[in-house]
Amino acid sequence: MAQEQKNVVTLPARAVDKNSVTMTDNRTGQSYEFPILDGTEGPSLIDISKMYAKTGMFTYDPGFTSTGSCQSGITFIDGEKGILLHRGYPIEQLVAEASYLDVCYLLLHGELPAQIEKREFEKSITMHTMLHEQLTSFYRGFKRSAHPMAVMVGVVGALSAFYHEDTDIHDPLQRMIAAHRLIAKMPTIGAFAFKYSLGQPFMYPKNELSYAENLLRMMFAVPTEDYEINPIFARAVDRILILHADHEQNASTSTVRLAGSSGANPFACVASGIASLWGPAHGGANEAVLNMLGDIGDKRNIPKFIARAKDKNDNFRLMGFGHRVYKNFDPRAKVMKETCHEVLNELGIKDPVLPIALELERIALEDEYFIEKKLYPNVDFYSGIILRALGFPTQMFTVLFAIARTTGWVAHWKEMFTGDDSHRIGRPRQLYIGPKKRNFKRVENRKKSMPDWLKMWGGRNG
Ligand code: CMC
Repeated sequence: MAQEQKNVVTLPARAVDKNSVTMTDNRTGQSYEFPILDGTEGPSLIDISKMYAKTGMFTYDPGFTSTGSCQSGITFIDGEKGILLHRGYPIEQLVAEASYLDVCYLLLHGELPAQIEKREFEKSITMHTMLHEQLTSFYRGFKRSAHPMAVMVGVVGALSAFYHEDTDIHDPLQRMIAAHRLIAKMPTIGAFAFKYSLGQPFMYPKNELSYAENLLRMMFAVPTEDYEINPIFARAVDRILILHADHEQNASTSTVRLAGSSGANPFACVASGIASLWGPAHGGANEAVLNMLGDIGDKRNIPKFIARAKDKNDNFRLMGFGHRVYKNFDPRAKVMKETCHEVLNELGIKDPVLPIALELERIALEDEYFIEKKLYPNVDFYSGIILRALGFPTQMFTVLFAIARTTGWVAHWKEMFTGDDSHRIGRPRQLYIGPKKRNFKRVENRKKSMPDWLKMWGGRNG
């Protein structure tokens, strides 16, 4: 017992000062006091920013499960209750009442736009949808079969080469123009990536169309025919964009913030966000869900896949299930499920994967493993089925997510300069577990330490 206490820091049940926490280092008996911060909603935070200066110790929190990295007024999530608010507005109300560009404005500026602000914002976004013509030749450097997210990382990163000289991040006007350019150009960049993969001509944006309509036309129209936009499709795309617009300090948003914290070019920062989003544990999950449902193939195979998801020795996870923050229904998944049924019903589409998805959800929600670990369907579980019904190929699903999340990324990037006085370059520390200081050995004195390269990459020190 005494041994156990030697290397721990105790948080006394009662803090000495009402707005602070006292921690005692049980090795020395010394106590330290840290302020408690309260936001407008959600749990309190212990301010440990002076911890190293006071104690000579860092905190350890792999995956940042208990760490607040910034102050933010954009999005609030209550994961236990399944609540998602953007600037205070519930996501369900925004999906029902607002357009994606309204939500963009809200995230960027803090309030829903008044009539004149709405007109001006929509006009500004519309006027920035074209790409510099030189950028179109950039696509030709990629293989036609390249994953569109790889193309997105490259082309959005390349935007920084086009706008570096006129992007002074300390000038509010230039920051705003950069934000508008990013939101406006993402659908064009994404649609061009799709067109390039097909070998079809790029379809340029049209100013008379809405954001979602433009995206659909650039994706699916060809120059040889008129393209009629189905309003059900446009509304569904707009809803999907709203549902993905922002989600607090997730992996890709934190990546954009970290990249931006060094003062980097915003287009390059967003490219880093796209790279982070691509992973199957994050935005790539919508593509992975459809692949998984295809692999399941038949309702009768579901128990096999559920068993694999529960097996500790199998890497397989039920894609579209579980969330770091939600320990209840993801409110976005609820809306997505409704939208999914609406779209399929209205279009009269019978997608064979839908009954598999519904049955999988039913079985998982009744399974002890998923109940105990509080694993519920997340936003990606149903989005892929809708996108497929709308005609988007699986590889484009994460691109849609990236287009939508660009608003969140730029809103957080902007907030670093305007809404958070505590903002500094991001620089986490570590628990070092490598060798202690040692002297250099000449090659003839070195012993072979690894049996093969493979082990080196897979091993603990790889
Ligand atoms: N299937 C089976 N088991 C799971 C799953 C799943 N989908 N998700 C979590 N678990 C288990 C996990 O094995 C672990 O078990 P144990 O405690 O026995 O080791 C426990 O639940 C906690 O999981 P975790 O990996 O520690 O949780 P996390 O917060 O680090 O990960 C997650 C969250 C979303 C990465 C994870 O749930 C997951 O991989 N889900 C599947 C991928 C997915 O759908 N991602 C989309 C997330 S929502 C959209 C977005 O953010 O972009």
